Amino acid sequence: MTSLWPTQRFLPGIATLIGLTMSDSPLPAANYDEAKVPRYELPDSLTMQDGTPVESAKDWTEKRRPEVLELFRKHVYGRSPAKPSGLKFKVIQNDDTALGGQAIRREVLTTFSRKEATPEANLLIYLPKNTDGPVPTFLTINFDGNHTVHPDPGISITRSWVRNNKDWGIENNRADKRSRGSRRSRWAIEKILERGYALATIDYRDIDPDYDDSFANGVHRLYPKPKPDEWGSISAWAWGLSRCLDYLETDRDINAKKVAVMGHSRLGKTSLWAGAQDERFALVVSNDSGCGGAALSRREFGETVKRINTSFPHWFCDNFTKYNDRVNELPVDQHMLIGLAAPRPVYIASATGDPWADPNGEFLSGYHAGSVYELFGLKGVGVAQQPEADHPVGHHVGYHLRTGKHDVTDYDWEQYLNFADRHLK
Ligand code: GCU
Repeated sequence: MTSLWPTQRFLPGIATLIGLTMSDSPLPAANYDEAKVPRYELPDSLTMQDGTPVESAKDWTEKRRPEVLELFRKHVYGRSPAKPSGLKFKVIQNDDTALGGQAIRREVLTTFSRKEATPEANLLIYLPKNTDGPVPTFLTINFDGNHTVHPDPGISITRSWVRNNKDWGIENNRADKRSRGSRRSRWAIEKILERGYALATIDYRDIDPDYDDSFANGVHRLYPKPKPDEWGSISAWAWGLSRCLDYLETDRDINAKKVAVMGHSRLGKTSLWAGAQDERFALVVSNDSGCGGAALSRREFGETVKRINTSFPHWFCDNFTKYNDRVNELPVDQHMLIGLAAPRPVYIASATGDPWADPNGEFLSGYHAGSVYELFGLKGVGVAQQPEADHPVGHHVGYHLRTGKHDVTDYDWEQYLNFADRHLK
């Protein structure tokens, strides 16, 4: 595979988003017309590959769940290595006067190997003060560096390679203090703390870079080059979230049995996959995750499997490309990814201005995951039609369609906190 810079990799995504196709692209224009969604039949979550029906929660847990998980590993995201023996955590700062005294700011340096040249990841944690005992926590993965989630001058600036950005003063692919707080609007930190939750977050590039480098960097470089059924970048980022949870389990201020994993967009695909594989996550949140996340692949509405594999060849395992032109032959669809979280609660959010991510397809995944929840005597979204904008619905599967663009806003966080209050408190 040739190595391309992230900007070049990102361009096809932007071009398709605004309805253009790259001049050398063999891809048809994206469909945004509900009437043109092809007829499709979803694989049944409750039928084993050999045709045996799944009749109980026990059948699901012991037989079908492992089978579905294996299908996603083999055909979609790729399997990841076990927890590395050289994994180490070091608390590098702990300040109990953060955010005007409202919070404790903690940073944990994570190293993944005993080798000197190990990749390093910095986990940032804000803890509310004056709580009785360990707190439930949102673990999130961010795009632009921990220091962008809040202007707090105490947050270490990311040392990862970053895309140049004039608005943020980034010129030589190195971030500096000018980008502090630049993504603040996405993180509602004060609100999360007021509601009694901690927020832990990590820069996704600290785990693995987001460009096609033939897996020569990030945590991938500690392992042999992936085979066609082995981890792409989404699997690597999800694996990184599990390593963060390994740390959270050792932190006495955190209730590690009540950790919600949350991500936006490609990192929403990541949070769903992390939550599917790692049953220690108590709740899973997908914000505008779209194709390869919550959206049903077979609808081919907005971004398609072929397009995502073309624009972002490093995200999924190589086997996934076999389905570019025959998505109906995939042994899974994304409602089964949601089902892998069951009986744990999942929240799926869409936005009206985000047709690329197929909001209705995101809703339908949640809806069709309901049959798995029912095995456990639980209700899924509880409605059969996508609700109108700004009307959250759901029981063990929560859903809302927010008015606005592809983003994470205070409105989204308000719903995640309400949902977490219902299920984790
Ligand atoms: C592109 C890509 C999406 C992805 C999004 C993001 O638009 O096509 O699949 O979710 O980037 O991560 O912001």
